[in-house]
Amino acid sequence: MTSINDHYLKLKAGYLFPEIAKRVNSFCESHPEADVIKLGIGDVTEPLPQAVITAMHEAIDEMAKRETFHGYGPEQGYEFLREKIARFDYQDRGVSISADEIFVSDGSKCDTGNILDIFGNDNRIAVLDPVYPVYVDTNVMAGHTGQADEQGRYEGLVYLPVTAENNFVPDFPSEPVDLIYLCYPNNPTGVVASREVLKAWVDYAHEHSAIILFDAAYEAFISDPEIPHSIFEIEGADEVAIEFRSFSKNAGFTGTRCAFTVVPKSVCASSATGESVSLHQLWNRRQSTKFNGVSYIVQRGAEAVYSPEGREQTKQLVDFYLENAARLREGLEKVGIDVHGGENAPYVWLKTPEGFDSWGFFDELLHKAHLVGTPGSGFGASGEGYFRLSAFNSRENIEEAVNRFQNLVR
Ligand code: MLT
Repeated sequence: MTSINDHYLKLKAGYLFPEIAKRVNSFCESHPEADVIKLGIGDVTEPLPQAVITAMHEAIDEMAKRETFHGYGPEQGYEFLREKIARFDYQDRGVSISADEIFVSDGSKCDTGNILDIFGNDNRIAVLDPVYPVYVDTNVMAGHTGQADEQGRYEGLVYLPVTAENNFVPDFPSEPVDLIYLCYPNNPTGVVASREVLKAWVDYAHEHSAIILFDAAYEAFISDPEIPHSIFEIEGADEVAIEFRSFSKNAGFTGTRCAFTVVPKSVCASSATGESVSLHQLWNRRQSTKFNGVSYIVQRGAEAVYSPEGREQTKQLVDFYLENAARLREGLEKVGIDVHGGENAPYVWLKTPEGFDSWGFFDELLHKAHLVGTPGSGFGASGEGYFRLSAFNSRENIEEAVNRFQNLVR
């Protein structure tokens, strides 16, 4: 009989967001009259910027004519988009990343999982706790973790707790690690990393010959000018880090799909024989074999994010969600809730009220206020006692959610 990848059997229950959707759907079926407001999964609600729509319409017209039709594109992404990314996201910020170090893809979720293809199976891996579940689950699937304990912690991973007690700044691993996942602005806590914290991680990576997998999907939400937008703003990071970026949250591409991963040519890791091998070369080989690129139409849309109108319209979108986050923060604080994040990120991370664990509060909020959030424990054992609210929604829904929340906990 054909055998399966047994590592899948080590995964804990369902993936967090489908699990929440299942519970919410079941509630809605039994309460069809309830007007449920969803602040769970961080999915955008506002339309694509007009500059993106116009560019995509034009691209569709090109596809309608033999002379301007596009078939397979480059697996790494079209030059026109890679050049814009290199210039606006990096070179204009004084960071020397070139277009050919950028790999356009259909999502950071996929890339943070797929990147494991180019690493060995014996690496010691560190994740923050709580953490975006994709980093953990993809390592479980790849057989890197062993079994989980009752709290859901896998024996083969090194967890770095981030809670209010340590001000959401993790300690360095007590044992050396080879791969470190960092996400800033952080999902789920919404906190950011200072230049000093990022520099300390880059120094750690140099000292231990480790690689940092830096997820910067939420960088557009950074409003504090002192906070770096890219790990590559830190000197020496181009030798020890890979960065993941996305158009999902800044320009509303969650359903359109476009992201990119930056693998500098100078970042290397070791082969079994001890030879230093370029990760850029391996990722290029991986993508050329397993990926056929993002559609021309979508890449033209992404390119328009960098036009003067596109930049202005994208900024307005980001500011809109940040204002939502500010209203959530203020509304919750008014009723005595301990709130974190939400200032440089679209997520607000709150302490669950006295007497509730994370899933208990999820049920209370859903049943009594018809509000959906994400239980902190779904992101890891150290997320227990916390709860995440997403600021991605209409203003009207955010205001209504704040009212309902206040009425519930008052
Ligand atoms: C989240 O809610 O954490 C995000 O939507 C997940 C994602 O971007 O995949």
